[in-house]
Amino acid sequence: MAQSSIYQQVLDPAHRADPYPLYAELRKTPVTREDDGTYVVSTYDELFALLHDPRVSSDPRNQPGLADGTAAPDQGQPDHALSFINRDPPDHDRLRELAMRPFGPPNTPGRIDDMRPWLTEITTGLIDKFAGKNRVDIVDDFAYPLPVTAICQLLGVPLEDQPRFHQWADGLIETLDPGTGTVEQRARKRDQVHADLAEYFSHLVDSRTSQPGDDLLSGMLTDRGPHAPMSREDVLATAGLLLVAGHETTVNLITNGMLTLLRQPDVLDRLNHEPTLIITFVEELLRFEPPVQMRTNRATVADIDIAGTTIPKGSPLALMIAAGNRDPSRFADPDHFDPGRADNAHLSFFGGIHYCFGAPLARTEAQIALSELARRLVNPRLVADPPPYRPNPELRGPRHLLVEYDSVAPARKEAGAVR
Ligand code: HEM
Repeated sequence: MAQSSIYQQVLDPAHRADPYPLYAELRKTPVTREDDGTYVVSTYDELFALLHDPRVSSDPRNQPGLADGTAAPDQGQPDHALSFINRDPPDHDRLRELAMRPFGPPNTPGRIDDMRPWLTEITTGLIDKFAGKNRVDIVDDFAYPLPVTAICQLLGVPLEDQPRFHQWADGLIETLDPGTGTVEQRARKRDQVHADLAEYFSHLVDSRTSQPGDDLLSGMLTDRGPHAPMSREDVLATAGLLLVAGHETTVNLITNGMLTLLRQPDVLDRLNHEPTLIITFVEELLRFEPPVQMRTNRATVADIDIAGTTIPKGSPLALMIAAGNRDPSRFADPDHFDPGRADNAHLSFFGGIHYCFGAPLARTEAQIALSELARRLVNPRLVADPPPYRPNPELRGPRHLLVEYDSVAPARKEAGAVR
């Protein structure tokens, strides 16, 4: 029997708890070709170059095998419109700019900072519920509810509708797990959730069009700046994209953060004594345990010469970001977790035109969540190491993270304490 390639081994769920030795093997040949024609790229400089290369397309219509124009299955947009993560310039740039204007500087500078007190309040409320127990699941009881609530708040989903969003987000994530049914069953479920989401957003768009609020959805609908207006279809596709792109990624960042802190109690202790360390801690976490480990959604639209190999036009790419983040030719002592690392240009939010739109929000959420968990759980311990992982090799994270503790310290009086 032919031996499976290193890339195939990375895809095998048996290696989910610790894929890093396989990434080190991959890096020995920066660009390799799989039997199905996929080019696997694993070194920092080559990844960086391809992320910035206009000859690389994110449009699924350029993916061999997805030539019918349907969207890649994990992107979360209704079938009738491709969201901008799946588009190339000039459409990508126009739609991203329209979505960016109500999201942050220079047009809406206070958007994320204004969410801090409110995010702290949600975090505090979730940790308050841990009191009176001595064991919780950080995934289900904490990391899950926080990002979906944040995205609802950002989009302007009314509080009373938010439980439905939690169900939809759970439903979408469930469909990524091969253990929950056949490919067809999962595709059907995903289509159903997308249809429910599209119907919900459609009503919300109607109500925000007639009565705009101070939220992102209203901002996209009422923008009169360059490239406006954004079509209703594109607003719907963008809303779906934000929910999917911003949810499981952030769940995994928070969960990986708690796992890392519990594996290294000295770092946890340092964080409690040096609260500003949280900024570089979260960056190092992103580098060390990236929630998006790899992406397979790109293809070349011209021949590209790289690292002594020619990747022919029309080839699917597997960009192994997590391998690049541990490349010793870019990072000193890359397998060491250094919470104060200064030179840390990791690739976890990618780079180039598709650089993560939600990075400022993800960072803020993780900073608040992890410093509050570190401060309030008294004598926290891991119940199982490694914890059970989801099988997904791209969005990698624990399915559960059981933690025991002695008690819960009281909440801080002031909100928005992490600055
Ligand atoms: C730790 C959390 C997160 C990580 C690691 C992460 C990572 C990424 C990565 C790697 C990409 C590039 C994907 C690609 O081009 O194929 C991306 C794009 C994107 N992310 Fe995030 N993300 C996170 C959180 C968020 C949040 C909270 C939001 C929404 C508020 C968000 C919204 C987006 C959007 C809209 C794009 C598409 C950008 C474009 O195509 O121009 N992300 N993210």
